[in-house]
Amino acid sequence: MVKSLVLLLFTLLSLACAINNKFLADKILSADGNPYVVTKVTTSTYGIVALAQLSLTSYQAASEQVIQSLTISIQFDTNTRVRVKITDTDNERWEVPISIPSYTPSGQNLQYTISPIVEGPLSIQITRNLDKKVVFNLNPAQPFFYNNQDIGFSNYVGYPISVIGLGERVSTFVLAQGTYTLYSRDRGSPIDTGSTPDSNMYSSQPFYLAIDDDLAAHGALLLNSNAMSATVGENYVEFRTTGGIIDFYVFVGPEPEAVINQYHDLIGYPVLTPWWGLGWHQCRYGFQNISVVEEVTNDYTYYDIPLDVMWIDIDYMNEFQDFTLNPVTYPQANFTKWINQLHSSNKHFVPITDAGIGVNPSYQAYLDGLKQNVYIQSAYVSGPTQGVVWPGTSVFVDFFHPNSTNFWFNQILKFEKLTSFSGIWIDMNEASNFINGEVGHSPSIITNLTMPYTPGEDVNMRSLDVASKHYGGLLEYDVHSLFGFTETIATYRYFEVYNLRPFIITRSSFVGTGRYAGKWSGDNKSLWPFLEYSITGIYNFGMFGIPFSGADICGFQLNTTEEMCARWTQLGTLYPFSRNHNGIDSIDQYPWSFGSDLLETSKLAIRNKYWLMLYFSTEMFKVSQNGGIFFKPAFFEYPDDANLLNNSSEHFMLGKGLIVHPCLWEGIDGRVSYFPDDIWYNLYNGNKTILDAQNSVYLDMTLPGDIPIHVRGGHIIPTLDTSKTVLDVETLRKSPITLIVALDQNGKAQGDVVFDDGVSLDTLSRGHYTQIHYNYWNKNATTTVLTIQTVHRGYKMIQGEFPYISSIVIYGINRKPQSVIFYSGGTYTPLSASISLDVGDSVCTIWF
Ligand code: NOJ
Repeated sequence: MVKSLVLLLFTLLSLACAINNKFLADKILSADGNPYVVTKVTTSTYGIVALAQLSLTSYQAASEQVIQSLTISIQFDTNTRVRVKITDTDNERWEVPISIPSYTPSGQNLQYTISPIVEGPLSIQITRNLDKKVVFNLNPAQPFFYNNQDIGFSNYVGYPISVIGLGERVSTFVLAQGTYTLYSRDRGSPIDTGSTPDSNMYSSQPFYLAIDDDLAAHGALLLNSNAMSATVGENYVEFRTTGGIIDFYVFVGPEPEAVINQYHDLIGYPVLTPWWGLGWHQCRYGFQNISVVEEVTNDYTYYDIPLDVMWIDIDYMNEFQDFTLNPVTYPQANFTKWINQLHSSNKHFVPITDAGIGVNPSYQAYLDGLKQNVYIQSAYVSGPTQGVVWPGTSVFVDFFHPNSTNFWFNQILKFEKLTSFSGIWIDMNEASNFINGEVGHSPSIITNLTMPYTPGEDVNMRSLDVASKHYGGLLEYDVHSLFGFTETIATYRYFEVYNLRPFIITRSSFVGTGRYAGKWSGDNKSLWPFLEYSITGIYNFGMFGIPFSGADICGFQLNTTEEMCARWTQLGTLYPFSRNHNGIDSIDQYPWSFGSDLLETSKLAIRNKYWLMLYFSTEMFKVSQNGGIFFKPAFFEYPDDANLLNNSSEHFMLGKGLIVHPCLWEGIDGRVSYFPDDIWYNLYNGNKTILDAQNSVYLDMTLPGDIPIHVRGGHIIPTLDTSKTVLDVETLRKSPITLIVALDQNGKAQGDVVFDDGVSLDTLSRGHYTQIHYNYWNKNATTTVLTIQTVHRGYKMIQGEFPYISSIVIYGINRKPQSVIFYSGGTYTPLSASISLDVGDSVCTIWF
């Protein structure tokens, strides 16, 4: 009797499984909802802990792997952030080992409310107090499963949302509804935008920002490193991951930028970039020898174009081995001659390093690693797992191994002695592999890694075998997407020892990478849509806490055209990280490689970058100090303007004070451009922008020429003198300052500058910076004051640095000041100044 009952049940379960799998094939959807039942709840000031048991008999998850008992901890992290952590009560599971900056949960003034968790079907609902909107909802009717290698849940908020984030991919800013894979993967960008523009790429960044129809925003992070997918629906985001735990953080907003700040409070603020890194960079894959590098460097001087950094790709390597120089094409003596010249003109060198270490018995770095046992191990044979990358058969450092940091440090140190580099480019660190899995073995034949669900394609595709072993029993399966992240931290240690701001540019990133490095967007293409994608990419990485980012200017693969390269240079000089980089098969794309449109436009654009350097460095400094986003959609500054959310790459902002309208299309020399409701002046000449009833105006974009940049009324923008012939950051720091004071409707404006040595890592922690606040205001009917207040004094300028304010240009003034008086410490001193009034009597320039 009992036996027949069991058999009957089994038949029913198999049927349920078949139905379920059908649903699971395209998205997480289980008609059965949540199969866990809460059996115990404990509440405290700081959170709630609940136990839940699997109980729904009609539910069939992924076979015997189903977890029976869950512990749910809801932690009131801060008053705007709540953490929902769901783990297996009985067994330890893989958890991402990132250090979260310390915080003290207060349990006070919470801006969210958790509905009571009661015994019965598992249900968690968190609402934002301000507008009573649901920001997290584990609704019992929604899919939920917790199996060893297949965990799924849905944040079903129940109202329409626009979802942004979930990187890395080449995509529109607001993601279309659909399923997205998150798994680090070496994938060049799609050849044409119609193919697979949304596929997973180099990084895994499981954070999203959701904006509802009332333009209120909340955000969420699933802190999980396993291969996963996220399905964006009309009123939900569903996650399905192949391991780890549910560690879900919710940020209540309610403005987009508030969400970003709340997120950065969790993951840590970005590291400062050295000043020289904010300059202009030139790279190319295919510098055949050191003479070509020398020629390109000299051409910059010849054409009188500012330059701070020369890069060399894998061309310099001997047999594509990291930390070596090719004795024929890059002989040491010639290399040293070039680097000395480079340094004598205040410039810097950044070489590439790759993740794959060539297997070669006469290659010292490889042998050192073997000796220290630092490589990721094979699941099949005793010894390192082998893939194939540029050097041929290669092994990969296991950055979880305690010896790895030392090993890596020593390699970098020796290499610095050889090449005197200033920064490091870490490439191919997804980790990329030209074959799928391990040399000589079909991928993942180890049965317990057979995956019930595979997000996207085969996880071994162009990757190491997921069965490969890391230190401490870790599996590539779980830690794959952390390769770039852990390599970045090991690389950072080198700079840290010398108290240098790290100049590290990584291709692969994870949650928290911005604390150590910057990021470029990898292999884009010389196609027009990639100008727009570069903007959405930088928006995304700004949100992910990596503000120092950029895309290969003029495009990496395929051949650019003069017009495209000119437009890209106009745009790219406003990226925080501005590097012209080119693929080995592509035609040259230096500023002088085409005609005068490109040359003239590049000269203007690159000089503008240096002109605005103090603004960039100050605003980036503030992001390192407090979190937040520098290069951002105008929507973030004007979150009530729904028009700005659409076509968000047509109008981006640099900090709070500047808006840019790039030209992203071929064959046009101007366009009708939308502005948020505010006062805007042309940055270059102070002309006030007269908007039509739709808040638009036609902006001329004729080439050669400047990209349209407008300054927002109420802001003071510091600028530097770029009239010097030879220009680099070092020279620029000796420049006097011109303040552009753009008045708001009340005739007021404010701004800041931060001065520091531009290179030390501990500037913030030791307070070695000087911050000055400018405030322009009307004292009475006859007197206007510019208050210059030192709000933090921690950096003493060295002789000749930022010597003085040489002029003040006021936009939006309506009369000419008669005199300028300097007031300090109770004494009034008349200043000799020449004063002019131009542009329809609305721009006043005061020279001292
Ligand atoms: C791939 C990188 O994305 C690209 O920038 C580089 O030029 C090549 N590797 C060659 O190193």
